[in-house]
Amino acid sequence: MSTMNDEKGEHRSEKVEQLLKLRAQAKEGGGEARIKRQHDKGKLTARERIQLLLDPGSFQEIDAFVTHRSSAFGLHEQKILGDGVITGSGCIDGRPVYVYSQDFTVFGGSLSETHAEKICKIMDLAMKNGHPIIGLNDSGGARIQEGVSSLGGYAEVFWRNSMASGVIPQISAIMGPCAGGAVYSPALTDFIYMVQDSSYMFVTGPNVVKTVTHEEVSSEELGGAATHTQKSGVAHFSTPNDAICLRDIRKLMGYLPSNCEEKPPVQPVKKPDSAKAEALDTLVPENPNKPYDMKEVIEGVVDGESFYEVQPEYAANMITGFARLDGAPIGVVANQPLALAGVLCIESSLKAARFVRFCDAFNIPLLVLVDVPGFLPGTDQEWGGIIKHGAKLLYALCEATVPKCTVITRKAYGGAYDVMNSKHIRADYNVAWPTAEIAVMGTKGAVEIIFRQEIAAASDPAAKQAELEAQYAQEFAHPYKAASRGFIDDVILPSETRDKLIHAFKMSANKVDSVPRKKHDNLPL
Ligand code: HXC
Repeated sequence: MSTMNDEKGEHRSEKVEQLLKLRAQAKEGGGEARIKRQHDKGKLTARERIQLLLDPGSFQEIDAFVTHRSSAFGLHEQKILGDGVITGSGCIDGRPVYVYSQDFTVFGGSLSETHAEKICKIMDLAMKNGHPIIGLNDSGGARIQEGVSSLGGYAEVFWRNSMASGVIPQISAIMGPCAGGAVYSPALTDFIYMVQDSSYMFVTGPNVVKTVTHEEVSSEELGGAATHTQKSGVAHFSTPNDAICLRDIRKLMGYLPSNCEEKPPVQPVKKPDSAKAEALDTLVPENPNKPYDMKEVIEGVVDGESFYEVQPEYAANMITGFARLDGAPIGVVANQPLALAGVLCIESSLKAARFVRFCDAFNIPLLVLVDVPGFLPGTDQEWGGIIKHGAKLLYALCEATVPKCTVITRKAYGGAYDVMNSKHIRADYNVAWPTAEIAVMGTKGAVEIIFRQEIAAASDPAAKQAELEAQYAQEFAHPYKAASRGFIDDVILPSETRDKLIHAFKMSANKVDSVPRKKHDNLPL
């Protein structure tokens, strides 16, 4: 065997030399000029992204020597090691994850048959070994030169995304283009991050839109981070740049178990700011029409700085997010009186339903905070299908078998009372604050309906109405009727909420519950 000298003058065999050369070649991707172009756009390279995502030194690559098998359009002369996607495994805070990162410097990160095979290989490993998979997407879509082989590759990925759903957490980051059918892999995953100004997702791009509908729209407007986190609700997090996006994915992973058989990871307890906890006793205004910020309730109850909001910019009348209570992750679902008085609408129902299903699939207990005046009225809502979309949230909470606790802070009216994790749909611990009003509807509306004739016949209708409202409020606008029926387990001081919930979640930590045997459910899609 022939040998060569390395920098230190030591002998290395030609074979070792060849391996090191190939490794170096694989690291170059599409070459310096294309890497510079990537950086000039404010984007990191596929490898730099992996370095930031994973614990230092933990990444182990596989399939670095894979090349495509195509020969059409001169492709046989352009074989680049890795074929436009870097795949492997590593750790986040010491916990294993699988990752793929598309390399835009190689054929625009486009997906060939072999590129898809690499992604599928690590998806299969992630499923077999029970670890999350994180996909960093930056791709021009199907490798055009490969035609249907590329489309087949996409479908192989989609099938695996569907099979992995509910088994291992699947996270997608969109860090460049993601167009055409390619959007359906991220869409099938649990959470989508987007990077502002450098990523977009759409089924048909601005040119096709212009041809078909004559609308003039930019890529950013059609499918940028703001569009999908504020308007469509397709994406969950909008981040200002690649580095923050990757940092935030690391943060999210801290709330999630590695698979559906595990419980989520517990961390050291950090009590909430005592001033925030005490302020809860005076937070809810006397006037039921005056709003207050439900996030103050969350912050006064959960562990300090542990709340990580999901979809913060979409359907603000419903808050969803992860937090820790006594160190253990929980999913928080809460009506937000600051936006649309906290009503349930199509968007907020969908947002909460999807979040609840994720938490239930991954053993994350649910805390539901209720201040809801009902469903949003109007033709937009009815014609848009609020009946079936609202039913999704109802369904999600009914089928959830994780520990479920409910705190009614103020209004719990009508059907929305039932939907928002009521006792009747098998919540484990339901309490109300003294300010709670649990009734079929608000005082004013109720009196106007049931005493219409008395009010009209009265010599002073306004005075009569006020008198009847006071009567109704005394009878119904409080939590004690529900408490007398056992529909809520207790009426508690707001400042007691954290301790009561810690106890309740501890008591139901070993909860065993199930749904009837079936092939699968028929959630109202
Ligand atoms: C092969 C591709 C490619 C693709 C880009 N490239 N997209 N190669 N297949 N789909 C190559 C380019 O030839 C170029 O090679 C390099 O990647 C960078 O592309 P640029 O155009 O120079 O970059 P940029 O200006 O940033 O534009 C990026 C882009 C554009 C907007 C993504 O490349 C583009 O429109 N590409 C085509 C997108 C597309 O129509 N894809 C098919 C969609 S249908 P060089 O050698 O010059 O560096 C689809 C169906 C999926 O994906 C179906 C799943 C079911």
